[in-house]
Amino acid sequence: MEKSSGLRVILFPLPIQGCINPMIQLAKILHSRGFSITVIHTHFNAPKASSHPLFTFLEIPDGLSETEKRTDDKTFLFTLLNQRCEAPFRDFLAKLLVSSDSETQRISCLIHDSGWTFTPSVTKGLKLPRLVLSTYTVSFFLNHFSLPKLRREIKQLSFTDSEQDDLVQEFPPLREKDLVRLLKEKREYLEPYLNMMLEATKSSSGIIFMSCEELNQDSLRKAREDFKVPIYAIEPSFSNFPASSSSLFTQDETCIPWLDKQEDKSVIYVSFGSLATMTGPELIEIACGLRNSGQPFLLVVRVGSVKGTEWIEAIPEELMAKVNEKGKIVKWAPQQEVLKHRAVGGFLTHNGWNSVVESVCEGVPMICLPFIWDQFLNARLVSGVWRVGLHLEHRIESNEIESSIRSLFYGDEGDAIRERMRLLKEKVGRSVKENGSAYRSLESLIDRIRSFGF
Ligand code: UDX
Repeated sequence: MEKSSGLRVILFPLPIQGCINPMIQLAKILHSRGFSITVIHTHFNAPKASSHPLFTFLEIPDGLSETEKRTDDKTFLFTLLNQRCEAPFRDFLAKLLVSSDSETQRISCLIHDSGWTFTPSVTKGLKLPRLVLSTYTVSFFLNHFSLPKLRREIKQLSFTDSEQDDLVQEFPPLREKDLVRLLKEKREYLEPYLNMMLEATKSSSGIIFMSCEELNQDSLRKAREDFKVPIYAIEPSFSNFPASSSSLFTQDETCIPWLDKQEDKSVIYVSFGSLATMTGPELIEIACGLRNSGQPFLLVVRVGSVKGTEWIEAIPEELMAKVNEKGKIVKWAPQQEVLKHRAVGGFLTHNGWNSVVESVCEGVPMICLPFIWDQFLNARLVSGVWRVGLHLEHRIESNEIESSIRSLFYGDEGDAIRERMRLLKEKVGRSVKENGSAYRSLESLIDRIRSFGF
């Protein structure tokens, strides 16, 4: 912990779990380097202030109705949030700047999630430097601005089975079939929303990525060319500061004593993050596949994630009895602790970027089952580029799940994947050591934030 710099940084996360976690991790990094922290957040999905007594939290009204909060169309949700939060955010920020205008504590800059697109108009008037945090992998962030164009073009396209595996030229390593799945999602206002995000990013003072040269070198080079603002790729510095304290869900701590009873590298951990949903029959296929694999498993089923049911009622009693022999089902797990545990040998994941990075940092090989949006690209990086995981190709069928688990734990392919994961973990781990790429990037980010204050 460094001594106070006399500078305060304002952070503004987007209110979903996968975006709150990295922002709070960034807050912890900056706090450990002597900055005071104020987090401005919406009423919707507000982070728990009591878990972070050293930070100041300020809540702004967001005006979302219960129906709007539950929409599946995230672009619609974020568009609404941007419209409704601009005025209150502007007022709060202006008041903060006035009240902190003293020699003892100056506000250095605003760091906001890339999903907040109204911010340039606010900070320009207030002459406050502004940095953008992207919670996507670099290549998804770079290329997703072309999705509206691709969506218009793809309407005229139909693929043969063999073409489905072709790479999308504008969006590698996504394949045509991944793109088709991704574009099926309902996303109203996508084009205007992405245009505003692009403008807000280009006019920022820099972009922070939860990545490092070791994971995304080519994309980082391209990001520097395209955006012409400084790029800071500071992962795995994030993973050194656990995300669990910013959890919006109650974590079931009984996972850890249960894992303590399992053999080394024997457990398959299964979780699909904070947004993905599935049907009752899909949950049954997953439960059956896990049970038939013979491996002990820890399955997270988020409340409300199985359509039309509250939790796991879809699993028939008879199957539930078999599941309980070797498995444990919880509503939310302390994921980073779970992935760190010596008993965990594999991760069946939706490939949210946080989960991918956490898995790489702990060296846990993956089975990829992406559900939405950037998860399709992350799954391709894991299975097709770094080759540290198998891809289920969206076959949510018990026999496919069973055989992928057997291949990962016992097959030759599983051995090769484990070895590649060991090397990738080492490489990424080195980046945060003195003079590693993430280390240097973090140091230059800290210098930059300090320089804003003077
Ligand atoms: C989604 C996207 O897929 C992601 O790439 C994007 O940047 C944010 O939105 P999400 O579904 O939340 O994210 O997944 P992920 O990015 O993996 O984040 C989930 C976070 O919740 C991780 O930090 C994970 O450790 C945590 N988690 C998940 C738990 O603590 N417990 C659980 O049981 C499951």
